[in-house]
Amino acid sequence: MSPTDRSPHCLVFDSGMGGLTVVAALRQLGFKGRLSYAADTGFFPYGNKSDADLTRRIPRFADALFKAASPDILVIACNTASTLALQIVREVLPIPVVGTVPAIKPAAQMTRTGVIGVLATPGTLRRAYTDALVHEFARDRTVLTYGSVQLVELSERRAAGYPVSDEEIKAELDQLFLQPAGDLIDTVVLACTHFPLLRADLERMSPPGISFIDSGDAIARRTLNVLGDIRAEAVSGPETLYISRTDAPYTRLETVARQYGFEGTQILKLD
Ligand code: DGL
Repeated sequence: MSPTDRSPHCLVFDSGMGGLTVVAALRQLGFKGRLSYAADTGFFPYGNKSDADLTRRIPRFADALFKAASPDILVIACNTASTLALQIVREVLPIPVVGTVPAIKPAAQMTRTGVIGVLATPGTLRRAYTDALVHEFARDRTVLTYGSVQLVELSERRAAGYPVSDEEIKAELDQLFLQPAGDLIDTVVLACTHFPLLRADLERMSPPGISFIDSGDAIARRTLNVLGDIRAEAVSGPETLYISRTDAPYTRLETVARQYGFEGTQILKLD
């Protein structure tokens, strides 16, 4: 077997269900290797945690995952984690680590009105990394932002089939669109991997003619590019779900992950 025939093992990691939207993009782009999925359910949601707590937690979780799953590549499918801890995780793990970047650059190129909206978690919006993206790629644009942990929760509820009312979604969207110049927004960046789970609702409840952009495809492409260079040993085995806490409401994640092909659940205990 030539090295390129060998099947790589890719582990996708998020705080909860959001990274499943990246899994979908990977499968869509034809990823053929083994996929595992990890959700740090014991620390979910990340979006309202302090930078200090996340800086401690994320590398520990990543290290535990690496030891448990031995992947060839780790994809941090989480803006909140990547914008803070990508570099630290890269220093801890001896494998390539792909991160997630809010899609501010393509949004800045796409907008016709010059006004873009960014929906993210409060954590992602206060990062120097995010400020730097705006400074580099959208300096001559108006960038309106809204940080919401409630939208993360609504995304999980929607994905798990629980009721989500239009009023709950509208109350969040109003925080973006009712800002001064919010009526000029024509492009919205979904800068949290959870939000594509709610995309149809967000599109339906936003003013007409808005384009929504997320980072799923870009992360999947980047992952496939990096994997092109990996000479992994052949791997076999089930597509496993790793979580750090199992009690309700986290059982809902198992149900949704099953729809994305993840069967066996393994619990990683971090004290
Ligand atoms: N999915 C994560 C992101 O992309 C955040 C969700 C959370 O707050 O835990 O930012």
